[in-house]
Formats: sequence, C-alpha cells, structure tokens
Amino acid sequence: MIPRRRLPIRSEDLTEWFRTLCMIYHQSEDDVPKFERAFADYLGCEFARATTSGRDALELALDAVGTVPGDEVIIPAYTLGELLPLMQSKGLTLIPADIEQDTFNIDIKSIENRINERTKVICATHLMGTPCDIANICVLADHRGIAVIEDCAHALGASVSGQKVGTFGTAAIFSLEVNKAVPTYGGGMFVTNDRKIAASVASALHKRHRSELPALRKALFSWLEELVVRSPLYAPLAKLLFSEKAAKHFEKFYRSAHDQVRTEKIAYSSYQARIGLKRLRALDSRNARLNKSWAELAKELPEGFAAQNRERVGLPAFYNFIALSDMDTTVLRHRAAHLGVDIGIKTEIMDDCASILKANDCPVSASVFERAVLLPLYEGLSEKKFKQLVSVLHELSKDQGL
Ligand SMILES: Cc1ncc(COP(=O)(O)O)c(C=O)c1O
Repeated sequence: MIPRRRLPIRSEDLTEWFRTLCMIYHQSEDDVPKFERAFADYLGCEFARATTSGRDALELALDAVGTVPGDEVIIPAYTLGELLPLMQSKGLTLIPADIEQDTFNIDIKSIENRINERTKVICATHLMGTPCDIANICVLADHRGIAVIEDCAHALGASVSGQKVGTFGTAAIFSLEVNKAVPTYGGGMFVTNDRKIAASVASALHKRHRSELPALRKALFSWLEELVVRSPLYAPLAKLLFSEKAAKHFEKFYRSAHDQVRTEKIAYSSYQARIGLKRLRALDSRNARLNKSWAELAKELPEGFAAQNRERVGLPAFYNFIALSDMDTTVLRHRAAHLGVDIGIKTEIMDDCASILKANDCPVSASVFERAVLLPLYEGLSEKKFKQLVSVLHELSKDQGL
C-alpha cells in the first residue's frame, strides 16, 4: 500500500533528541531567539515569535490585532474546520467567503461582498502552499482599516513577485507540525512587521512555562506512528481504519489526539528550535525538489482529474498534491485502496467551513470539498511507487465511465 503521507524524519532529529535528553536541565536560552531571527530573516520581515502551534499563533494574532467579541472575521470557506471553535471561543463571528474553483483559495470578489462595518479581520489562507491574491486582498483591507492575517500554515517559502507570503498582511501564522515544510514536532510561528503587535505577542509568550519534555514526547510518538506507516502492518490497518464505516471516526480520533498535544500552551523548546534551524536551511531545496515532483505528477494525471492551479498568483511552496475528481470520491478512495494506493478525501484534506457554519452561500467550496482528492506525493516516494501511483490513477480513470 502506498501511504497517503510519510513524515520526513532525519537522523539528526534523533541525535538532537538524545542530546536534549542528556542535558535536559541545561538548555541554552539562545536557541529559540536564534531560530526566530533566522525565520524572520528568511521571510524578510521584522519579527518572528515561536508558538505552541499554528492555531496558537492564530489565537495570539487575533488578540494582537485587537479583535473584541462581536467583531466579524472573514475566513475562506474551504479551510481547516478546527480553527472555527478556536475563533468562536473569542466571541468572533465567522463569515465564510467562497473560494476559486481552480486555486481553491479565498475569492476576493466574495470577500468584497461580505465586508461591512463590523469586519475586523480577513483571514487569507495560502491553501496547500498556493499563494492567494494577497496583494489585492491587502489593498481592499487597507482602504477600510481591516487587519489581514495570513494563514501560511501550508505555505512556508511561497512568494508573490519575489516577496515571501507572510509579509504582506498585518500579521501571519505558520505551522511547524510534523507534516509541514519545516517540521519541528509541533510548534508554530507568528510573524509581523508591526513593533506594537510583536511586543504584545512576545509579552503573552513570555509568561509561558518552559519545558523540553512535550516536544520530546511528541517526537517519540511521531516516530512510532511513522514506524507503523512504513511497516507491513500498515496495509491491513489502513484498510480497516479508512474503510467507509470507520474513516470518519478514526479521523476524529486522530485529530483530537493531536489536539491534546497542541492545547498545552507551553513555550517553544530548544530542541524544536535547533531542529527548526537545520530544516530552515534546507527549505528552499526541499520546496524545489517537491515542486518538481508535483509538476511531474500533474503532467501524468489522466482524464477525470484536474490538479490545483498553483501558479496563478505567485510561486508555490509544496504541501500536498490535491486534484479534483469527476468521480464520487468515496467510491474512488475505496477503489484506490483496493489497487494499493491510500488517497485522502473530504475532511481528511480540508473542511467545508461554510456548511459547518450553516452558511449555504459558498457553492464552489461545497463542490471542491466533495470532489477533492489528496494523492500521495512526498519526500521519499520512490520512482517505482510514483509509477505505480500513475498507473493506478489511469486504472481509476478508466473506471470513471462506469
Ligand atoms: C489551513 C491551516 N491553518 C492553520 C493550521 C494550524 O496549524 P497547527 O496544526 O500547527 O495548529 C492548519 C493545520 O494544518 C491548517 O491546515
């Protein structure tokens, strides 16, 4: 079975893990600021602050730009549903804007139709590493005194006209989760060019308890999970867990298990910062390699699949390969599993947040949610597996007429 994803674990992660454990009470105070500075320099912005997760960074950003209960936040209708309760718990009203059919990113015309005097923030997500129309969104927001928070959870390294995403808006957030471009076993980054906003986030983070243990524990669990994915156990397990009946429950359980780790609001650790620095140095070559593989797979897609349009606005960073399928995706997933390929569908990719919020005015998001498939493409996918994937896609394409 070709798994849907593989974690890019490096031997240096293990070496650092043991080193950290041996010197658990003697961590340098400099590691985190060093990583933050390198992160800000990489992006070309003034301030970067490491957080517990991308969600944590988003919460901090919403507070720092001065939202109060009752304010409206425009969000893309197609994004991570777990962000909704987090924003709603602050008393914010979430207004979903529809997305574009080809990029799957928030549609600026839809944003324009939803702006009113209560709009405080536009959350502009660069979905799957594909830059959204961020420059024009910022112009729209600036005229009206609305803050723009860029959600760059998937998009570290993407750029528009030579400027890195994350440096256009009022503030931006990044995820450093294990499946992201700079994976540091959890963590996130808040960035801004605004000194006052940066100071308010730094002061909230300063109160956090420091401990290396949660990140070390998370690394250990990630390696165990990866061991299962790479073992012969994975095929029968995947068949069971991703079966039509079990998939929804498993997805819920998996997300909530990860959530528990994320909700511990502790300071970003030295272990994570040291790994982050190394991964950051390798980021551009990682994105170049995977963008090349992305283009190769897009070229091989058979009839009945349409790849995401990633380059309309700028240069993408690699996150996942998403395509739209003409076939019922539940049936497609089942057939693909039978042929030895694990593909992701529906909530395993992103959520139709408009429907979660009971707003039925985002038809493109609803359709993309139903039709999107996540195909396995990641570092470590061998040429043999790549060919097998392409041949299975052609097989599935033949089925589409049935
Ligand atoms: C679009 C989007 N925003 C924010 C986040 C939150 O990042 P984290 O998992 O680090 O909390 C994610 C997580 O994958 C995401 O997909």
